[in-house]
Amino acid sequence: MAELLSKNDKRTKYCGEFSTADIGSSVCVMGWAQKQRDLGGLIFIDLRDRSGIIQLAFDENTPEEVYKSAFKVRSEFVLCAKGVVRARGEGAVNKNIPTGEIEIAVNELKILSAAATPPFAIVENSDVKAELRLKHRYLDLRRPDMQSRIIARSKIAKITRDYFEEQGFIEIETPNLVKPTPEGARDYLVPSRVHPGSFYALPQSPQLYKQLLMLSGFDRYLQIARCYRDEDLRADRQPEFTQIDEELSFVTQDDVIEINEGFLKRVFKEFLGRDIELPLPRMTYAEAMERFGSDKPDLRFGYELKNLSEIVKNSEFKVFSGAVEAGGSVRAINIDGGARMSRKEIDSLVEFVKTYRAKGLAWYKYAEDGTFSSSYAKFLTDDENKAILDAMNAKPGDLILIVADAKNNVVFDSLGALRREIAFRLNVIKPGDFKMLWITEFPLLEYDDEDGRFYAKHHPFTMPMEEDLEYLDTDPGRVRAIAYDIVINGTEAGGGSVRINIPEIQQKMFSVLGMEKEEYEEKFGFLLEAYRYGAPPHAGLAFGFDRLVSLLLEIEDIRDVIAFPKVQNASELMTGAPAPTDMKALNELSIAVVNEEE
Ligand code: AMO
Ligand code: AMP
Repeated sequence: MAELLSKNDKRTKYCGEFSTADIGSSVCVMGWAQKQRDLGGLIFIDLRDRSGIIQLAFDENTPEEVYKSAFKVRSEFVLCAKGVVRARGEGAVNKNIPTGEIEIAVNELKILSAAATPPFAIVENSDVKAELRLKHRYLDLRRPDMQSRIIARSKIAKITRDYFEEQGFIEIETPNLVKPTPEGARDYLVPSRVHPGSFYALPQSPQLYKQLLMLSGFDRYLQIARCYRDEDLRADRQPEFTQIDEELSFVTQDDVIEINEGFLKRVFKEFLGRDIELPLPRMTYAEAMERFGSDKPDLRFGYELKNLSEIVKNSEFKVFSGAVEAGGSVRAINIDGGARMSRKEIDSLVEFVKTYRAKGLAWYKYAEDGTFSSSYAKFLTDDENKAILDAMNAKPGDLILIVADAKNNVVFDSLGALRREIAFRLNVIKPGDFKMLWITEFPLLEYDDEDGRFYAKHHPFTMPMEEDLEYLDTDPGRVRAIAYDIVINGTEAGGGSVRINIPEIQQKMFSVLGMEKEEYEEKFGFLLEAYRYGAPPHAGLAFGFDRLVSLLLEIEDIRDVIAFPKVQNASELMTGAPAPTDMKALNELSIAVVNEEE
C-alpha cells in the first residue's frame, strides 16, 4: 500500500510556513495526517509537520485516483501531497491556526506509510499518563508542545555556544570512560574486557579533565557535557543529564560570576526577549539558611524564617525549650493569607514536614475576624504567646507555622521546603516571574553523622576561603569555600568554585576527608603530580542544562525537555533499558552475576 518517494518529490517548504502570499503556486508538502474529515464529496486532511499544519482539500475537481487515496487516509498516515495553494471558501477560515486562510487543492497524493491507530492522540497538552507517553516516546515527541520544547533546547544550546565562543572559550571534549573517582554520587561502572576485574566509570562531570586543561594552558574551556550519576531521581534529576561546563584560568570568583551573568542576560534576551538587570543579587549561604531555610531560596514570595529560640528557651513547653536546650532551635514562618486554610489542609502540612524529619508542626491560625485557634498556644504563657505574635508581625488572616528540633538542619530543611510547598498550594507564584541570585560562601565540608566523617560539600578540589584556612586542621566544619551557586526560582541552576591549585592545600584537603597519603596518591596522584608543573589559578562553573531549559520554559519536570528521559527507577520505558545481557558477553567481561535469591 505504501509508496516510495521519487526524486521529483521535493518538499516546497514546511506545512506551517505557507501563507496567503503562496496562493496560486504549485507546491509539494510532506508530513503526518493529523485528521481526515470526509464531508461526503469533500475530504479534508490536516497535514502536520514540525512547523505546524496545512489543510489538504479534495473535491469534485480532484483526479479520481487521488480522491480514492485520500479516502483511505487515517490519523498519522505519512503523506506526500502536491497541488495548488488557494484561499479557503467563505466561512471555512480557521482563525486558530496561522495557515487557516488557505488550503492546498491536491492533485497528487502518495501514502508514504500507513499507520496503526496510535495509543494516544497526537495533540497539544495531552493529559495522557506519563508511562504511556514515555513507552511511545517517538509518538509523544510528535506532539507540538514536545516538539517546541526540544527545538527550544537546541536554540538555547546555540545561544550558549555563541556567547561563550565570543568570550574566548574553546570547546573541548573530555572522555566518557574515566577512572572511578567518586565525586559525590554513585558512579555508573563500565567493565573492561581487556583488564578483567577493572572498571571505567561514566563521568559524574568533567571536573578533573577541565582542571587539567587549565594546566595545559587552554585558559577558557567550554563543553556541553553529558554527566552520569547513579542517584535517586526526582523531578529535577536524571541519571544522565547535560551540563554547560566551564573552566577559566587566572580569574577570581567575581570574574566567573560576571561572565555567567552576561550569559544569563544573553539567554533571557535572545530566547525570552526579556531584559534582566545586572548584577544579580548575592547572598551568603549563612544568610540564605537563616532567612529561607535553604541554600536555594525561592525569592518569588516572602514567608521568611524567624528564630523564636530566645523567646521560648525557658518555656514550660518542653517541645520548644527542649529543642533549644539540646542545641537546636525553634523557628517559624508567617503565611500571609494562610488563615483561610482549613484544619484538614493544616494537618496535611504537619504530614508534609514529617517527610523532612520534623517531629511536628505547631500552628497558630489568626482568622480574618480576629479570633484564633492554635495547636500550641495553650501550652505557653500569655507573655510567650504575645512575644511570638509580635516577632512574627501577626495580623488577622495570618497562619504561623513553627518547627522545633534539636537539629538545626531539620528546622531549616522542613521550613525551607514548607514555605515553597505553601506558595505552590496558595498559588502565590506569578508565571513569568524570574528571581535569580548567587549563593556564596558555602561551607567547605559537611559532616556525616552516620559515617562519622567530613565530606566535601561541593567537591574535594574547591579552594577554602583564605581567612578560614587556619581552621582546616582545628575546626574544619567552620571553613567556608570559595564556591557559588546560581539559583533561579528556588532551583539550583548551576554551581562552581575556585579550585585548589596548590598541592599542599589539596593534600590537606584529602586528609581532612579522611584519606591516608597512600589512598589519595593512588586515586589522585596524577592530579597532585600535575600541580607540580605549574598550575594557574583557575575556577569554573557548570549549569545544569536540562534545568536551565526547563526553567526558561517554566516546566516543572526536566523529563519534558529531554528527548529520551529515564523514569524514577532509572529505566527507559521505550527500549526497556537496562536489560540483562547474555552469558557470552558476561564471560568476555569476566563478570558473574549473583542471583538475588541465592
Ligand atoms: P554540580 O554537581 O553542582 O557541580 O552540578 C552542576 C549542575 O548540574 C545540575 N545537575 C543535575 N541536573 C540534572 N540531573 C542531575 N542528576 C543533576 N545533578 C546536577 C545542577 C547543578 O547545579 N563539576 C561541578 C561543577 C564545577 O565545579 O565546575 C559539578 O558537577 O543544575
Ligand atoms: P504534643 O505535646 O506532642 O502533643 O505537641 C503539642 C503541639 O506541638 C502539637 O500541635 C504538635 O504538632 C506540636 N509539636 C510537636 N512536636 C513539634 C516540633 N518538633 N516542632 C513544632 N511543633 C511541634
